[in-house]
Amino acid sequence: MSSPDTPDAHPDPGDFERHTAQVHTRFEDSFSYSGYLRLEQLLGAQAPLTAAHDERLFIAIHHVQEVWMSLIIHELEAAMRELVSGRFEPAMKKLTRVARSQEQMGGAWDVLKTMTPADYLGFRHAFGKASGFQSWQYRTIEFLLGNRQRYMLRPFAEQPAHHARLAAILDAPSLYDIALAALAERGLLAPSALRLRYDAPPEASEAVLAAWLAVYRETRAHWDLYYLAKKLVDVEDNFRRWRFNHVTTVERLIGQKTGSGGTSGVGYLRRALDIVLFPELWQVRTHL
Ligand code: HEM
Repeated sequence: MSSPDTPDAHPDPGDFERHTAQVHTRFEDSFSYSGYLRLEQLLGAQAPLTAAHDERLFIAIHHVQEVWMSLIIHELEAAMRELVSGRFEPAMKKLTRVARSQEQMGGAWDVLKTMTPADYLGFRHAFGKASGFQSWQYRTIEFLLGNRQRYMLRPFAEQPAHHARLAAILDAPSLYDIALAALAERGLLAPSALRLRYDAPPEASEAVLAAWLAVYRETRAHWDLYYLAKKLVDVEDNFRRWRFNHVTTVERLIGQKTGSGGTSGVGYLRRALDIVLFPELWQVRTHL
């Protein structure tokens, strides 16, 4: 007979029965697994509009990505609050989780790429103008990180709650603005170099570059800022990969057709590859 600590290659079926003799079967006084996780609602949201086999894949991948995005927003907002309060270590833990979640999102493209243009055309007609361009969670992440353009609020005109929430993010400092405020607090950046309005992407500045240079040249003296810089680069690196994988998948599937959201499609997405979230953190490498 096997001990619980030494698993057999072929466990005795009777052993499973003994281990599961007391399993819970009634849940009047407690959550069940599916009750707690609201699985009926979660899985019920996978509702294809056509009989095309691949539509399930298309919906599932979008759902998975939106679930990761919701976690990323939760972690990013918490990390920003920690940084504002000067609690760097818990902030780093949360930013690490953001970066790991982004890595998981990256894996989804490999599954989605098993779909061919012909498979996609089997259901493309069904979803009309729907597009990730209208993903309020994606835009929230972009806005929190600092890629801010007020005109990106336009697709949310009919969703006042999402519109208001996104507009409020534009009025508050981004993650990068908060990092720059930390540089100022340490005396590495003049407070006058911090911006007063937050509704545009950051523009590279000599003063900010000089501040990051000081951090990278004296890493021991500024270890927490140095570590924060590393985490920011990790997040932007992963974001760039997401964008690249997305546009490549899109080109595989629709070539140069216009997007369902009304943009030029691949042309628009390629332009987004040039977006830089934390410009001085990339420039600093050249000057070291
Ligand atoms: C068959 C696969 C896909 C195709 C053909 C596709 C196509 C496109 C196109 C053409 C755009 C440009 C906007 C427009 O629609 O005009 C776009 C934007 C976008 N898509 Fe996809 N997409 C696909 C999969 C996904 C997946 C799985 C996600 C995950 C949530 C996603 C999220 C987004 C987001 C967030 C944007 C906005 C990007 C930005 O504004 O920079 N897409 N997509």
